[in-house]
Amino acid sequence: MRSLFKFIAAATPMLAACFALGEVAGSKHDFSAQGWSDNAICKPCHTPHNAIETGITGRLWAHTLSTAEYNYHGTRSTSVDNTTTLDAGDTILTQNDMDGASRLCLSCHDGTVALDSFMGKDQSRVTGGTIGTAGHGSPTANLGTDLSNDHPVGFRAQYKENTQHGGHYGYAPFASVQAKFRKFAWSTTPVPAGSKDQDGNDITYTNWPSISCVTCHDVHNGTLPDEPGLLRVTNTGSEICLSCHHK
Ligand code: HEC
Ligand code: HEC
Ligand code: HEC
Ligand code: HEC
Repeated sequence: MRSLFKFIAAATPMLAACFALGEVAGSKHDFSAQGWSDNAICKPCHTPHNAIETGITGRLWAHTLSTAEYNYHGTRSTSVDNTTTLDAGDTILTQNDMDGASRLCLSCHDGTVALDSFMGKDQSRVTGGTIGTAGHGSPTANLGTDLSNDHPVGFRAQYKENTQHGGHYGYAPFASVQAKFRKFAWSTTPVPAGSKDQDGNDITYTNWPSISCVTCHDVHNGTLPDEPGLLRVTNTGSEICLSCHHK
């Protein structure tokens, strides 16, 4: 009994610290209460062995990826580099137009792949249905394949980190909050080789990060406890929007 008491006394501050930081356990991404997850937390998304590695993740990914094409928000009359016309007017995004992290999210959130479609040891899971169906989250969590009513993401949604454009089209995070955003630059070539910006500089991974789902969201809920939406920067007073849109 005494040792149990000691354990609780020792563990309480640790637990409190964990909750204060925010965690995947107990968050909207903790599906361990549900049979389809094999009652595991990490398993629907990660696997220690035989992960899906198609060159996009490096995240020991377990969940079956979507093959859907998406409608992009808005119609571009010029390409991101203002030089090529590669994507001009094209509002369809293939999987390759998405950044790798957004593909991971959309493997559940575009509503085309069942939640229980992931690698597992025993292969005996019950059918999980797709996101937004009964018992599998709110209907609004299913973004669908029409992303034209969602904030731009993917390799075409980019900001120039080193120059915070002023005026209406100010897109880059303010220097003061830049570190809070997940700068997203992995995966395949985000811009056509040889692309130049308006100033004639090369556009590369490093100075033109893509906007990804993980730019704004922390999938493990690790940064902002108690913030609805697993956000990296609070949405109170629209702070997250004002961080990039200098208005
Ligand atoms: C709902 C899906 C999901 C669940 C559940 C999940 N992860 Fe992740 N995890 C991701 C995604 C997506 C990324 C990539 C995020 C990024 O690059 O910003 C990631 C990245 C990681 C990484 C590498 C980079 C980082 O952000 O730390 C580790 C390690 C990791 N997860 C461990 C875990 C563990 C351990 C668990 C279980 C306690 C877990 N994850 C649960 C989706 C998930
Ligand atoms: C294994 C499937 C799966 C993956 C992968 C996944 N999610 Fe989710 N996500 C869900 C489900 C199911 C919910 C629960 C929805 C609900 O309860 O309304 C959810 C909820 C959310 C919510 C709402 C949280 C809230 O507070 O209401 C956000 C935001 C979210 N996910 C973002 C992401 C992002 C960003 C990624 C990728 C980095 C991702 N998800 C990857 C299945 C997934
Ligand atoms: C520019 C920032 C930004 C990007 C990029 C972004 N989100 Fe969100 N997302 C938000 C904010 C802000 C909310 C609202 C949180 C709140 O309730 O205040 C939100 C809410 C959500 C919700 C909860 C919706 C609901 O009502 O249940 C889901 C699910 C979600 N996002 C998934 C995604 C996925 C998947 C991606 C990538 C395709 C993505 N988000 C990209 C900022 C973003
Ligand atoms: C990390 C930086 C970042 C954050 C945070 C951010 N945005 Fe954006 N936003 C961008 C970029 C970059 C674009 C341009 C994407 C493109 O090239 O198509 C954009 C585009 C837009 C557009 C214009 C779409 C169009 O039709 O051209 C609107 C409106 C917008 N964002 C609103 C928001 C709102 C509302 C929030 C907060 C929920 C938000 N943004 C948060 C970077 C950001």
